[in-house]
Amino acid sequence: MAKIKAAILGFGTVGQGIYHIVNEKREDLKKSLGLDIEICAILINNLAKERPETPGVLVTDDFEDIENIPGLQVVFEAIVNEEPAYSYLCRAIDKGCHVITANKVMFSKYSIPLQERAKSRGVFVGYEATTAGGVPIIKTLKNLLQVNSVKKIQGILNGTSNYILTQMRLEESPFEDALKEAQLLGYAEADPYNDISGQDAFRKLMILSALAFGKQPDWNEVRVVGIDEITLEDVRKAKDTGLRYRHVAEIEQDENGELYASVGPQLVGPDHPLYAIEGVNNAVSLDTNYIGTLTLVGPGAGMYPTASVMVEDYAEIIGKRAGFFITI
Ligand code: HSE
Repeated sequence: MAKIKAAILGFGTVGQGIYHIVNEKREDLKKSLGLDIEICAILINNLAKERPETPGVLVTDDFEDIENIPGLQVVFEAIVNEEPAYSYLCRAIDKGCHVITANKVMFSKYSIPLQERAKSRGVFVGYEATTAGGVPIIKTLKNLLQVNSVKKIQGILNGTSNYILTQMRLEESPFEDALKEAQLLGYAEADPYNDISGQDAFRKLMILSALAFGKQPDWNEVRVVGIDEITLEDVRKAKDTGLRYRHVAEIEQDENGELYASVGPQLVGPDHPLYAIEGVNNAVSLDTNYIGTLTLVGPGAGMYPTASVMVEDYAEIIGKRAGFFITI
Protein backbone atom coordinates (compact mmCIF):
# COMPACT_ATOMS: atom_id res chain seq x y z
CA MET A 1 0.00 0.00 0.00
CA ALA A 2 1.28 3.47 -0.89
CA LYS A 3 2.53 5.51 2.03
CA ILE A 4 2.00 9.18 2.92
CA LYS A 5 5.04 10.57 4.69
CA ALA A 6 4.19 13.21 7.27
CA ALA A 7 6.08 15.41 9.72
CA ILE A 8 4.98 17.22 12.86
CA LEU A 9 6.38 20.66 13.65
CA GLY A 10 6.20 21.28 17.40
CA PHE A 11 5.81 18.53 19.95
CA GLY A 12 3.90 20.18 22.78
CA THR A 13 0.34 19.31 23.79
CA VAL A 14 -1.10 19.41 20.26
CA GLY A 15 1.90 17.86 18.46
CA GLN A 16 1.88 14.92 20.87
CA GLY A 17 -1.87 14.55 20.39
CA ILE A 18 -1.43 14.31 16.60
CA TYR A 19 1.27 11.66 16.98
CA HIS A 20 -0.91 9.63 19.30
CA ILE A 21 -4.10 9.84 17.20
CA VAL A 22 -2.32 9.09 13.91
CA ASN A 23 -0.82 5.95 15.40
CA GLU A 24 -4.04 4.88 17.09
CA LYS A 25 -6.15 5.44 13.92
CA ARG A 26 -3.53 4.33 11.38
CA GLU A 27 -5.29 1.09 10.42
CA ASP A 28 -8.69 2.81 10.10
CA LEU A 29 -7.16 5.57 7.98
CA LYS A 30 -5.56 2.93 5.76
CA LYS A 31 -8.98 1.35 5.22
CA SER A 32 -10.84 4.60 4.54
CA LEU A 33 -8.20 6.29 2.36
CA GLY A 34 -6.39 3.33 0.84
CA LEU A 35 -3.13 4.99 1.90
CA ASP A 36 -0.92 4.49 4.91
CA ILE A 37 0.36 7.45 6.92
CA GLU A 38 3.76 7.43 8.54
CA ILE A 39 4.97 10.16 10.86
CA CYS A 40 8.60 10.14 9.80
CA ALA A 41 9.90 13.30 11.49
CA ILE A 42 9.21 15.63 14.38
CA LEU A 43 10.63 19.13 14.76
CA ILE A 44 11.26 20.19 18.33
CA ASN A 45 12.68 23.29 19.93
CA ASN A 46 14.92 21.79 22.56
CA LEU A 47 16.49 18.36 22.03
CA ALA A 48 17.43 18.15 25.70
CA LYS A 49 13.82 18.46 26.94
CA GLU A 50 12.11 15.28 28.11
CA ARG A 51 9.43 14.02 25.69
CA PRO A 52 7.44 10.87 24.94
CA GLU A 53 9.27 8.15 23.01
CA THR A 54 8.70 8.09 19.23
CA PRO A 55 10.50 4.96 17.96
CA GLY A 56 11.80 5.09 14.39
CA VAL A 57 10.97 8.80 13.99
CA LEU A 58 13.60 11.38 13.12
CA VAL A 59 13.54 13.98 15.92
CA THR A 60 15.39 17.15 15.02
CA ASP A 61 15.64 20.84 15.89
CA ASP A 62 16.63 21.72 12.31
CA PHE A 63 13.80 22.29 9.81
CA GLU A 64 16.20 21.61 6.93
CA ASP A 65 16.33 17.96 7.99
CA ILE A 66 12.56 17.83 7.51
CA GLU A 67 12.17 19.73 4.25
CA ASN A 68 14.85 17.53 2.71
CA ILE A 69 13.02 14.27 3.43
CA PRO A 70 12.40 12.76 -0.01
CA GLY A 71 8.70 12.35 -0.79
CA LEU A 72 7.41 14.23 2.28
CA GLN A 73 3.74 15.02 1.56
CA VAL A 74 2.11 16.38 4.71
CA VAL A 75 3.29 18.79 7.39
CA PHE A 76 1.30 19.18 10.62
CA GLU A 77 2.23 22.45 12.31
CA ALA A 78 1.64 23.07 16.00
CA ILE A 79 4.16 25.78 16.81
CA VAL A 80 3.38 28.98 18.70
CA ASN A 81 3.78 32.46 17.12
CA GLU A 82 4.07 33.76 13.57
CA GLU A 83 7.68 32.92 12.99
CA PRO A 84 9.36 30.63 12.19
CA ALA A 85 6.02 28.85 11.59
CA TYR A 86 5.02 30.90 8.54
CA SER A 87 8.44 30.54 6.86
CA TYR A 88 8.50 26.80 7.53
CA LEU A 89 5.04 26.32 6.03
CA CYS A 90 5.95 28.39 2.95
CA ARG A 91 9.01 26.20 2.48
CA ALA A 92 6.96 23.02 2.97
CA ILE A 93 4.39 24.23 0.41
CA ASP A 94 7.16 25.07 -2.04
CA LYS A 95 8.33 21.46 -1.69
CA GLY A 96 4.82 20.28 -2.63
CA CYS A 97 3.52 19.41 0.88
CA HIS A 98 -0.03 19.85 2.14
CA VAL A 99 0.10 21.78 5.40
CA ILE A 100 -2.23 21.46 8.38
CA THR A 101 -1.94 24.09 11.06
CA ALA A 102 -3.26 24.80 14.56
CA ASN A 103 -1.37 28.09 14.75
CA LYS A 104 -3.94 30.87 15.05
CA VAL A 105 -1.38 33.60 15.68
CA MET A 106 0.34 32.83 12.38
CA PHE A 107 -2.81 31.99 10.42
CA SER A 108 -4.86 35.03 11.46
CA LYS A 109 -2.18 37.17 9.79
CA TYR A 110 -1.12 34.99 6.88
CA SER A 111 -4.24 33.03 5.93
CA ILE A 112 -4.55 34.68 2.51
CA PRO A 113 -0.90 34.50 1.31
CA LEU A 114 -0.50 30.99 2.68
CA GLN A 115 -3.61 29.72 0.91
CA GLU A 116 -2.69 31.54 -2.32
CA ARG A 117 0.77 30.00 -2.20
CA ALA A 118 -0.71 26.56 -1.61
CA LYS A 119 -3.17 27.00 -4.49
CA SER A 120 -0.41 27.99 -6.87
CA ARG A 121 1.49 24.81 -5.94
CA GLY A 122 -1.58 22.56 -6.11
CA VAL A 123 -1.59 21.66 -2.41
CA PHE A 124 -4.03 22.33 0.45
CA VAL A 125 -3.99 24.16 3.78
CA GLY A 126 -6.01 22.60 6.60
CA TYR A 127 -6.79 24.98 9.46
CA GLU A 128 -9.80 23.60 11.32
CA ALA A 129 -7.72 23.46 14.53
CA THR A 130 -6.92 27.16 14.51
CA THR A 131 -10.42 28.12 15.64
CA ALA A 132 -12.64 26.75 18.42
CA GLY A 133 -10.66 23.52 19.02
CA GLY A 134 -12.84 20.49 18.34
CA VAL A 135 -15.83 22.50 17.07
CA PRO A 136 -16.03 21.93 13.28
CA ILE A 137 -16.66 25.59 12.48
CA ILE A 138 -14.28 25.90 9.51
CA LYS A 139 -15.70 23.01 7.53
CA THR A 140 -19.25 24.05 8.43
CA LEU A 141 -18.64 27.60 7.25
CA LYS A 142 -16.97 26.43 4.04
CA ASN A 143 -19.94 24.23 3.26
CA LEU A 144 -22.68 26.69 4.03
CA LEU A 145 -20.93 29.59 2.28
CA GLN A 146 -21.42 27.72 -0.97
CA VAL A 147 -25.09 28.73 -0.76
CA ASN A 148 -25.63 31.00 2.25
CA SER A 149 -24.11 34.31 3.18
CA VAL A 150 -23.21 35.17 6.77
CA LYS A 151 -24.30 38.43 8.32
CA LYS A 152 -23.01 38.03 11.84
CA ILE A 153 -20.77 35.70 13.85
CA GLN A 154 -20.92 35.63 17.63
CA GLY A 155 -19.13 33.19 19.87
CA ILE A 156 -17.05 32.08 22.78
CA LEU A 157 -13.69 31.38 21.16
CA ASN A 158 -11.35 30.88 24.11
CA GLY A 159 -11.77 27.74 26.18
CA THR A 160 -9.44 28.89 28.95
CA SER A 161 -11.45 32.07 29.60
CA ASN A 162 -14.74 30.20 29.64
CA TYR A 163 -13.26 27.56 31.95
CA ILE A 164 -12.02 30.24 34.36
CA LEU A 165 -15.36 32.10 34.38
CA THR A 166 -17.21 28.83 34.97
CA GLN A 167 -14.93 27.77 37.83
CA MET A 168 -15.26 31.20 39.43
CA ARG A 169 -19.04 30.95 39.32
CA LEU A 170 -19.62 27.31 40.20
CA GLU A 171 -16.69 26.62 42.56
CA GLU A 172 -15.97 30.17 43.72
CA SER A 173 -12.37 29.50 42.62
CA PRO A 174 -10.15 32.57 42.69
CA PHE A 175 -9.07 33.68 39.20
CA GLU A 176 -5.44 32.59 39.64
CA ASP A 177 -6.41 29.08 40.84
CA ALA A 178 -8.80 28.57 37.93
CA LEU A 179 -6.11 29.72 35.50
CA LYS A 180 -3.59 27.27 37.00
CA GLU A 181 -6.12 24.45 36.55
CA ALA A 182 -6.66 25.46 32.91
CA GLN A 183 -2.90 25.34 32.40
CA LEU A 184 -2.62 21.90 34.03
CA LEU A 185 -5.45 20.61 31.84
CA GLY A 186 -3.56 21.74 28.71
CA TYR A 187 -6.14 24.38 27.73
CA ALA A 188 -4.07 27.54 28.13
CA GLU A 189 -1.50 28.96 25.72
CA ALA A 190 2.22 28.72 26.54
CA ASP A 191 1.79 32.37 27.53
CA PRO A 192 -1.68 32.44 29.13
CA TYR A 193 -1.78 36.22 28.81
CA ASN A 194 -3.00 35.57 25.25
CA ASP A 195 -6.02 33.73 26.65
CA ILE A 196 -7.03 36.06 29.45
CA SER A 197 -6.31 39.31 27.57
CA GLY A 198 -8.71 38.37 24.75
CA GLN A 199 -5.93 38.23 22.12
CA ASP A 200 -6.44 34.52 21.42
CA ALA A 201 -10.18 35.00 20.82
CA PHE A 202 -9.42 38.05 18.66
CA ARG A 203 -7.06 36.05 16.39
CA LYS A 204 -9.69 33.32 15.97
CA LEU A 205 -12.36 35.92 15.15
CA MET A 206 -10.08 37.32 12.44
CA ILE A 207 -9.69 33.85 10.93
CA LEU A 208 -13.48 33.46 10.84
CA SER A 209 -13.79 36.94 9.33
CA ALA A 210 -11.38 36.12 6.49
CA LEU A 211 -13.34 32.98 5.71
CA ALA A 212 -16.89 34.31 6.13
CA PHE A 213 -16.47 37.80 4.67
CA GLY A 214 -13.33 37.38 2.55
CA LYS A 215 -11.63 40.16 4.53
CA GLN A 216 -10.80 41.36 8.02
CA PRO A 217 -11.57 44.67 9.74
CA ASP A 218 -8.67 46.99 10.53
CA TRP A 219 -7.16 45.28 13.59
CA ASN A 220 -6.55 48.65 15.26
CA GLU A 221 -10.27 49.42 15.12
CA VAL A 222 -11.31 46.30 17.06
CA ARG A 223 -11.80 46.76 20.80
CA VAL A 224 -10.30 43.73 22.55
CA VAL A 225 -10.88 43.24 26.29
CA GLY A 226 -9.98 40.16 28.29
CA ILE A 227 -11.38 38.57 31.43
CA ASP A 228 -8.36 39.54 33.53
CA GLU A 229 -10.18 42.39 35.27
CA ILE A 230 -13.17 40.30 36.38
CA THR A 231 -13.10 39.56 40.11
CA LEU A 232 -14.75 36.84 42.16
CA GLU A 233 -16.93 39.56 43.64
CA ASP A 234 -18.11 40.61 40.15
CA VAL A 235 -18.98 36.99 39.33
CA ARG A 236 -20.87 36.57 42.64
CA LYS A 237 -22.89 39.75 42.06
CA ALA A 238 -23.80 38.61 38.54
CA LYS A 239 -24.83 35.19 39.85
CA ASP A 240 -27.10 36.80 42.47
CA THR A 241 -28.95 38.62 39.70
CA GLY A 242 -29.27 35.52 37.50
CA LEU A 243 -26.63 36.68 35.00
CA ARG A 244 -23.38 35.10 33.81
CA TYR A 245 -20.17 36.56 32.43
CA ARG A 246 -19.32 35.31 28.99
CA HIS A 247 -16.28 36.30 26.94
CA VAL A 248 -17.87 37.13 23.61
CA ALA A 249 -16.19 37.65 20.25
CA GLU A 250 -18.46 39.07 17.56
CA ILE A 251 -18.33 40.49 14.08
CA GLU A 252 -21.07 41.85 11.86
CA GLN A 253 -21.19 43.15 8.30
CA ASP A 254 -23.50 46.09 7.48
CA GLU A 255 -25.31 46.70 4.17
CA ASN A 256 -22.31 48.63 2.84
CA GLY A 257 -19.98 45.72 3.50
CA GLU A 258 -18.31 47.39 6.51
CA LEU A 259 -17.21 45.05 9.30
CA TYR A 260 -17.71 45.80 12.98
CA ALA A 261 -15.98 43.54 15.48
CA SER A 262 -15.45 43.45 19.23
CA VAL A 263 -14.06 41.02 21.80
CA GLY A 264 -14.81 41.26 25.50
CA PRO A 265 -16.81 40.14 28.52
CA GLN A 266 -20.59 40.51 28.48
CA LEU A 267 -23.19 39.84 31.13
CA VAL A 268 -25.82 37.57 29.64
CA GLY A 269 -29.17 36.25 30.85
CA PRO A 270 -30.84 32.84 30.42
CA ASP A 271 -32.33 33.81 27.05
CA HIS A 272 -28.88 34.44 25.51
CA PRO A 273 -27.50 31.63 23.27
CA LEU A 274 -24.13 31.68 25.08
CA TYR A 275 -25.57 31.57 28.63
CA ALA A 276 -25.45 27.77 28.89
CA ILE A 277 -21.94 27.29 27.46
CA GLU A 278 -19.85 26.02 30.36
CA GLY A 279 -16.27 24.99 31.10
CA VAL A 280 -13.79 24.60 28.27
CA ASN A 281 -16.56 24.60 25.68
CA ASN A 282 -16.65 27.07 22.84
CA ALA A 283 -19.71 28.08 20.85
CA VAL A 284 -20.08 29.82 17.53
CA SER A 285 -23.39 31.26 16.31
CA LEU A 286 -23.73 32.13 12.64
CA ASP A 287 -26.54 34.38 11.34
CA THR A 288 -27.12 33.31 7.76
CA ASN A 289 -29.60 34.36 5.11
CA TYR A 290 -31.17 30.97 4.27
CA ILE A 291 -30.56 28.74 7.29
CA GLY A 292 -31.20 31.42 9.90
CA THR A 293 -29.15 31.13 13.08
CA LEU A 294 -26.94 28.08 13.54
CA THR A 295 -24.93 27.47 16.72
CA LEU A 296 -22.14 24.92 17.11
CA VAL A 297 -20.92 23.99 20.59
CA GLY A 298 -18.07 21.79 21.76
CA PRO A 299 -14.66 21.58 23.47
CA GLY A 300 -12.61 24.58 22.43
CA ALA A 301 -9.20 23.50 23.68
CA GLY A 302 -7.21 20.51 24.84
CA MET A 303 -4.88 17.95 23.32
CA TYR A 304 -7.33 15.54 21.72
CA PRO A 305 -10.08 17.86 20.45
CA THR A 306 -7.48 20.03 18.70
CA ALA A 307 -5.27 17.20 17.43
CA SER A 308 -8.20 15.14 16.21
CA VAL A 309 -9.51 17.87 13.92
CA MET A 310 -6.01 18.14 12.43
CA VAL A 311 -6.10 14.44 11.61
CA GLU A 312 -9.60 15.00 10.15
CA ASP A 313 -8.07 17.72 7.94
CA TYR A 314 -5.49 15.16 6.83
CA ALA A 315 -8.21 12.66 5.94
CA GLU A 316 -10.19 15.33 4.11
CA ILE A 317 -7.20 16.60 2.11
CA ILE A 318 -5.92 13.15 1.19
CA GLY A 319 -9.48 11.98 0.54
CA LYS A 320 -10.11 14.96 -1.71
CA ARG A 321 -6.98 14.10 -3.63
CA ALA A 322 -8.49 10.66 -4.17
CA GLY A 323 -11.84 12.26 -5.13
CA PHE A 324 -13.78 11.33 -1.95
CA PHE A 325 -14.89 14.76 -0.70
CA ILE A 326 -15.99 18.03 -2.22
CA THR A 327 -15.10 20.60 0.48
CA ILE A 328 -11.80 22.46 1.20
N1 HSE B 1 -5.66 28.41 24.66
C1 HSE B 1 -6.67 28.15 23.69
C2 HSE B 1 -8.03 28.21 24.38
C3 HSE B 1 -6.43 26.82 23.07
O1 HSE B 1 -8.07 28.18 25.61
O2 HSE B 1 -9.05 28.32 23.71
C4 HSE B 1 -7.26 26.50 21.86
O3 HSE B 1 -7.02 27.38 20.81
